[in-house]
Amino acid sequence: MDTMYYHKLGGSSLNVSVLTFGAWQLGDPAYWGPDAEADGVAAVHAALDAGINFFDTAPMYGAGESERILGRALADHGDRVLIATKVWPDQCAPGKLRAACEASLQRLGMDRIDLYQIHWPCRDVPFDDVYDELRRLEEEGKIRHIGVSNFGPTDLEAWTATGYCTSNQVGYNLLFRAVEYDIVPACRMRNIAILAYMPLMQGILSGRWKSVEEIPVNRRRTRHFSASREGTRHGEPGAEPLLLETLTRLGQVAENIDEPLATVALAWVLAQPGVASAIVGARNPVQLERNLRAISLSLGVETIEQLNLITEPLRRHFGANADMWENDANSRIR
Ligand SMILES: NC(=O)c1ccc[n+]([C@@H]2O[C@H](COP(=O)([O-])OP(=O)(O)OC[C@H]3O[C@@H](n4cnc5c(N)ncnc54)[C@H](OP(=O)(O)O)[C@@H]3O)[C@@H](O)[C@H]2O)c1
Repeated sequence: MDTMYYHKLGGSSLNVSVLTFGAWQLGDPAYWGPDAEADGVAAVHAALDAGINFFDTAPMYGAGESERILGRALADHGDRVLIATKVWPDQCAPGKLRAACEASLQRLGMDRIDLYQIHWPCRDVPFDDVYDELRRLEEEGKIRHIGVSNFGPTDLEAWTATGYCTSNQVGYNLLFRAVEYDIVPACRMRNIAILAYMPLMQGILSGRWKSVEEIPVNRRRTRHFSASREGTRHGEPGAEPLLLETLTRLGQVAENIDEPLATVALAWVLAQPGVASAIVGARNPVQLERNLRAISLSLGVETIEQLNLITEPLRRHFGANADMWENDANSRIR
């Protein structure tokens, strides 16, 4: 069995597993496709058995269903687990923020949130006001630590001029390395832990789709894909041929070391400086078990260098804009 290990989250007292259970898949069939709740709950329990102690959810996932299902699945394990949830930017005005936090607690069936994160930067409410209300919630014991998500260097600077944040949750994987330009250095300089979301690029990094057409529509809306694809809003040409070529070459590296590509992709994220934990979604215990293998896979300097070289053209293509869905001019990550 793979032995879990833990990292201290930024300057907080939280000791989190290097794999975080991403709970978006619980109760959101409109995005992820039909599923059985029982499979998701079984994955949560398999995660607990494997030593995963950190669970990430949000009110946006299935309009609260993810929080509800996660809360029920963890009901008998409250003391052992750390819960991270989020607040959407349009709920950040102080009164709304408090109501959103209390609604999350109610859906989770818990009396505290270990890490309460601003899901995307709020542009309509001054950071000072958001921070003050978060501190009040912290003093009342409703939340234990403050985190942010999708914050770029300018927002991090403004936020930390106001107060602290423990972590910054950002999209980071072999096919999308934009955070390496400015965000990783900005976080490391301030001892802000990086929580890497979409480490498998929503399953694309398992290598199971051989053409763009096979990829489910919701998962081909990022800047990797042409603006002609349904649901995209970036207006960019995308990089589809480069994406497929990169996946083929990554698959060859995985084959050479006799590991599934998904395992290699996760191990690569875990090896990146500043990454405290990779938040990975699993639909069932089988996927979870496969992902757990990443914690004991040490890729070695040479393989990491090979993976870096293969993904460098994509890294250059995207540049420093860390918003996977919007072009430079409209980027929400600043
Ligand atoms: N802060 C934010 O803005 C933000 C944004 C996105 C995500 N997140 C968080 O990050 C978590 C993870 O991101 P994500 O779920 O979007 O992407 P992900 O973890 O990269 O991908 C999860 C998907 O990959 C597939 N998968 C998982 N393990 C696999 C394996 N071993 N072999 C083959 N396929 C595998 C599954 O696809 P199938 O469903 O097709 O089986 C699963 O639904 C979310 O649950 C959420 O908590 C945060």
